[in-house]
Amino acid sequence: MVFTPSAHVRGRKLVELLGCWSGTARPSSQLLAAAVRQLVLDGRLPPGTRLPAERELAGALGVSRTLVARTLDRLREDGFVASRRGAGSWVKLPDGERDNESHGGWFPTADSEVLNLAQATPSAPPELGAAVDRARLRFPEQLSGHGYQPHGLPVLRERIAERYTKRGLPTGPGQILITNGAQHAFALVLRMLVSPGERVLVEHPTYPNALEAIRGLNVTPVAVPMIEDGWDLELLAANLRQTSPRLAYLIPDFHNPTGIRLDAAGRAQLARALARTCTSAVIDETLAEIDLTNDEPPPPMAAFTDRAILVGSASKSFWGGLRLGWIRASEDFVQRMVIGRAAVDLGSPILEQLVLAELLQDADQVLERRRTESIERRESLVAALREHLPHWRYRVPDGGLALWCDIGAPVSSRVSVAAEQHGVRLAPGARFSVYGSLERWMRVPYTLPADQLAAAIRRLAAATASVRDGPSPNILTAPIV
Ligand SMILES: Cc1ncc(COP(=O)(O)O)c(C=O)c1O
Repeated sequence: MVFTPSAHVRGRKLVELLGCWSGTARPSSQLLAAAVRQLVLDGRLPPGTRLPAERELAGALGVSRTLVARTLDRLREDGFVASRRGAGSWVKLPDGERDNESHGGWFPTADSEVLNLAQATPSAPPELGAAVDRARLRFPEQLSGHGYQPHGLPVLRERIAERYTKRGLPTGPGQILITNGAQHAFALVLRMLVSPGERVLVEHPTYPNALEAIRGLNVTPVAVPMIEDGWDLELLAANLRQTSPRLAYLIPDFHNPTGIRLDAAGRAQLARALARTCTSAVIDETLAEIDLTNDEPPPPMAAFTDRAILVGSASKSFWGGLRLGWIRASEDFVQRMVIGRAAVDLGSPILEQLVLAELLQDADQVLERRRTESIERRESLVAALREHLPHWRYRVPDGGLALWCDIGAPVSSRVSVAAEQHGVRLAPGARFSVYGSLERWMRVPYTLPADQLAAAIRRLAAATASVRDGPSPNILTAPIV
């Protein structure tokens, strides 16, 4: 396959992507080539990306130009880089990397044949149809107005506020700002509160698109590692003190990707740490209502501290296609957000807001079905993993939509590349990492129906075996950095 060079990665950006590529060893062309290969295989350097000139790259990496030249030679030999006089060098996948016969597996010919486990996104609930019908009847009332509602539609703000009150956090509609999803909500808050060069504290691992938003603003993520059973709150507090981040971004409700929930005592401790350092926190509640237990849920973080800016979403509880989320904060903050928002967008679509307002009338029913379905699918996934990948380790989460699996070796990017060739798309651990690490981990969602999950895990097991058995030595036996 011939790739035309497209995007250009700058030296500095490549250095950031490479992280500490030589580890503790002396820098060598072998290590650098392996690190670049890993970025290509992991999809963080898409094929076609133009590389910086040798001199720029050597300068950015602080290595000799000879080492860079040797690295490019190695990558060219392995088929990961192509060069043309006058056009420079760009990354590519080796020919044969997508060669069906050489791997003996099932290969998709069309995107629709891929079983998508890269996103933990459920399909729409059956109640959506009736909600659309009801919303359509209400729509004409809106048509005499101009249709711009930068705060969001009053009826939707009211219903979201009511749900918070029901969850133990008294809330008025003036405290709600409707956005185009939780990601949009976080990006708006980030843009308003944080300036380039400042720091934002995140959990490690964390939600990849939040990291994208942070990096996109030239803000530095400060990563606090999660431990076996959740948050190391003392370490988190120490990081707040020592690094003085401008903001924290945290997912205490069925954390993506680990699925762990912070209990009430932990929330109180976190609130104290935020108060002591005067740090505001965006609390991403996207998965809060995908609760697969019968336990009384802990109150939302904002019940513990007014430093918590809650961000919610219709995507997991209802449907991602609505593209609606919200911010729950003080009325004053919401007012400031409305003013700040105007630079980016002027409000969310009215019809979708009416649909969500209607769906919220059926919220308990929709969520109960989501719960039952997710429990069943979680069980199907666990059963398939036990059968086909018995050495993978995970804790069965109390909520959320995915398992976070320790796959036993630092090869999750390679497994996900092989899996794509077997017709399964996955998000490897590195996607959730600030440094591109977490190669022992793979997130596996349980949002597909049971039969598709079983098929996906069978294919995944074949892909994992192909990585272990190594049919393509130039890729699969590359040193891991
Ligand atoms: C933790 C978390 N935050 C935000 C989002 C994005 O939500 P939305 O679709 O509302 O933008 C997701 C979606 O997967 C998520 O898991």
